[in-house]
Amino acid sequence: MHHFEYRGGELYAEDVPVSTLVAAYGTPLYVYSAATLRRHFRAFDSAFAALPHLTCYSVKANSNLSVLKTLAAMGAGMDIVSGGELYRALAAGVDPQKIVYSGVGKRASEIEEALKAGILMFNVESTGELERLSAIASRLGKTAQVSLRINPNVDPKTHPYISTGLKKNKFGLDIDHSLAAYAKAMELPGVTPVGIDCHIGSQLTSISPFLEALDKILAFRDKLTAMGIETRYLDLGGGLGIQYNEEEPPHPSEFGQALTKALGDLPITLILEPGRVIVGNAGILVTEAVYTKKTPSKDFIIVDAAMNDLIRPSLYDSYHAIREVRPAGRPELSVDVVGPICESGDFLARDRALPAVAPGEHLAVFSAGAYGFTMSSNYNSRPRAAEILVDGDEVIVARRRESYDDLIALER
Ligand code: LLP
Repeated sequence: MHHFEYRGGELYAEDVPVSTLVAAYGTPLYVYSAATLRRHFRAFDSAFAALPHLTCYSVKANSNLSVLKTLAAMGAGMDIVSGGELYRALAAGVDPQKIVYSGVGKRASEIEEALKAGILMFNVESTGELERLSAIASRLGKTAQVSLRINPNVDPKTHPYISTGLKKNKFGLDIDHSLAAYAKAMELPGVTPVGIDCHIGSQLTSISPFLEALDKILAFRDKLTAMGIETRYLDLGGGLGIQYNEEEPPHPSEFGQALTKALGDLPITLILEPGRVIVGNAGILVTEAVYTKKTPSKDFIIVDAAMNDLIRPSLYDSYHAIREVRPAGRPELSVDVVGPICESGDFLARDRALPAVAPGEHLAVFSAGAYGFTMSSNYNSRPRAAEILVDGDEVIVARRRESYDDLIALER
């Protein structure tokens, strides 16, 4: 059951025609489906039902408060990477004991905020961070539960910018030199090592790199156990891919089965940090064609959404399906769908088969729920898009459109 589908010749978000949303809220417009968020969370979480586990949605993928609230209401934990994400997660009503904090550059103030909030665990990425956490926790009279992020040196076979578990990446601690870091964590006051963390990359379309990393992590865990260090948590990060175009990523249930089998009855709680797989296909970006333009070499559709709204095509050369909101049945041409920004890198699609849409018509950019709005900016002084959450026939303005006043509100 899909929640963005065509009924009577036009695109719906659940029970609401997208054209109705456009008429009320304008474009560019992010539209999310609450039912899809819930379905994806349930599918993912239930895949691990046979294991003690905690699903910590990765806030960076889509941090809108209404999205976080929808997931928090289902019992989701959250994976955060900044003080700002902590603030959002708490504002959405997430139980602090279900929050894990990852990231290579946590500042002292952010560490302090998370300690005061009483989060479940810090995923520590360097010995410098471990020492700082120890000092701050000691000063506050607290003890932080930590997992050290281990870099297993596994190739996730994804885009280089979103590969994180290779030796050359900035993330985590080298697996061959991490035992000493655990020994240090045992000695330092204010920190207790309770788990092992790893995250190898994003948009993985096969399970084998996860299993390869897990093998290495479990062998590492045996060494820790031999040193007398018991770990109760194993955090495998996020990274399960979604279908944008012709990828065939494993279903969460396959992922769950494979991990359940690999973990057997080890006495650990598995933590997962899915982002994209929960929200990616729960959102679309709706845009209006402003002009069409023909040059001797190309046909362009110039739309009112741009790289400041959705940077993924420009940054990763990523594919997002684009369809008409009201398909008119015209023949397809090969077009570039581009935005108004003053850069040639400002495109949503290149050499794409699309009908010759006319100015004023609307297009939906699919799979835009993850790393869409969260990576958006005000470049070219473009107010950021509004975000709408549809739940059945209910329409929630999850974020109002920015105004020109908003653009200069913080400046003098
Ligand atoms: N946990 C950690 C520690 C992460 O760094 C990430 C993503 C996740 C979990 C969630 O990964 P996911 O399940 O969403 O793959 N902007 C890029 C993706 C960057 C991913 C960064 N880390 C994109 O648009 O493709």
